Amino acid sequence: MPEITKDKLIIFDTTLRDGEQSPGASMTREMKIRIARQLEKLGVDIIEAGFAAASPGDFAAVKAVAETIKGSTVCSLARAIENDVRRAGEAIQPAKSGRIHTFIATSPIHMQHKLRMNEDQVVEHAVRAVKLALEYTDDVEFSAEDAVRSDMDFLVRVFDAVIKAGATTLNVPDTVGYSIPAAWGERIRQLIARVPDSHKVIWSTHCHNDLGLAVANSLSAVMNGARQIECTINGLGERAGNASLEEVVMAVKTRRDIFNLDTRIDTTQIVPTSKLVSSITGYPVQPNKAIVGANAFAHESGIHQDGVIKHRETYEIMRAEDVGWNANKLSLGKLSGRNALRQRFTALNIEFRSEEAFNATFQRFKELADRKNEIFDEDLQALVSDEAAQVSEHYRLVAMGAHSETGAMPVARVVMNIDGKEHHADGQGGGPVDATFKAIEQIVHSGTELQLFSVNNITSGTDAQGEVTVRLSKGGRIVNGQGADTDIVVASAKAYLNALNKLHSKLERAHPQV
Ligand code: KIV
Ligand code: ZN
Repeated sequence: MPEITKDKLIIFDTTLRDGEQSPGASMTREMKIRIARQLEKLGVDIIEAGFAAASPGDFAAVKAVAETIKGSTVCSLARAIENDVRRAGEAIQPAKSGRIHTFIATSPIHMQHKLRMNEDQVVEHAVRAVKLALEYTDDVEFSAEDAVRSDMDFLVRVFDAVIKAGATTLNVPDTVGYSIPAAWGERIRQLIARVPDSHKVIWSTHCHNDLGLAVANSLSAVMNGARQIECTINGLGERAGNASLEEVVMAVKTRRDIFNLDTRIDTTQIVPTSKLVSSITGYPVQPNKAIVGANAFAHESGIHQDGVIKHRETYEIMRAEDVGWNANKLSLGKLSGRNALRQRFTALNIEFRSEEAFNATFQRFKELADRKNEIFDEDLQALVSDEAAQVSEHYRLVAMGAHSETGAMPVARVVMNIDGKEHHADGQGGGPVDATFKAIEQIVHSGTELQLFSVNNITSGTDAQGEVTVRLSKGGRIVNGQGADTDIVVASAKAYLNALNKLHSKLERAHPQV
């Protein structure tokens, strides 16, 4: 359980749970382990690894994270019902330090329309869930979902009851991103003042970003006594996302004069963590995003450049290297051997399940090094996401070619392997990518709708690998596929097939808040 001190801000990361609730961002167990390892290296206090009761796959992922992580507390979410709490308790059992996070909605609109419960029933469920959770761990968090629209007197009653039942952290969520900083801070202040024995627990806040105020609201909560912030890398999360970890942490660090609080975060790991989460989930980071956007430390105007050269602090309140921007260092090249590659992967916290998997990656590394002189850490990360994508391949790209010429209709030819059988198709389209997707569709007839197509360069230079994200939807399911290659048409084909393979896997899971 995190140490309770008044001068420490506890960072609770929910990228693997609330972040995973973003459309198409569901992660496999292996992906979660990779991110969890990086979050541990980043120094987050608590990793919310998932919602164990959602599906057998989610249970296995939370359990695997609990088995792997030693330096952070591992947490599972659980609705305030017996089965959820028991599944969460079983999943976190292997953890060195494990937490159960149980929640129930407390606003009239949720109680009436979603839960169909009255206030007494909600209190009864909350208390029972906390007591049951304590049978598995002494670290139990309770959240009053939609606290922002809950009646204050009722919130005080619920929180009082769960403290008496033994909860150690009380979380106050702005589930729908409705609050504004002054009102949110005041709500937290009043709760701490009115709830009996409030000093015995950690007060936490969990803010969504529907009005773009999640970070501001979270910081206002801290200024009014909250000592835990729930946040995600890159602000990933349900709808407009959650408070972004990097912004919260850097605000508290940069304005220590105001907050006078420390976190355990190693800020030099922020950018590598952001890149890893972006490449695994397929959510690109906007260039002007604070802290982790490509332009966050770029000075375009002549006046700014001149000022920064003369005296850096004229226009910079933080140093790029303090948040990990210099991590983009030359890693390996064409002549690097198996040992060098293995060592680099170990430094990046990437492990292989088998020698064959490593051999396949080494082969792909060599192919990449033939086309690209300098191989950076980001290229290696992309190589393994490609490799992971190939594991559950129903649809596999064997070969492809695309041709475009001014004045002529672009064409593409694709060869694919489906269940051991080879298929060929040609396509024509508005551009080479469109022609390639049409050729693939001639073979698979997926009936999907393309919701998003985006290309990002992984590193700089014209020989950089392009990383493509494709979001497909079908029958209410949404998936993101990624692919990386020095040829962006090939990267696009890989991303499209990766998305189709995810749809094909038919992973079904429950949503915690529905
Ligand atoms: O937004 C929310 O209220 C949540 C809870 C489960 C904490 O995610
Ligand atoms: Zn949430």
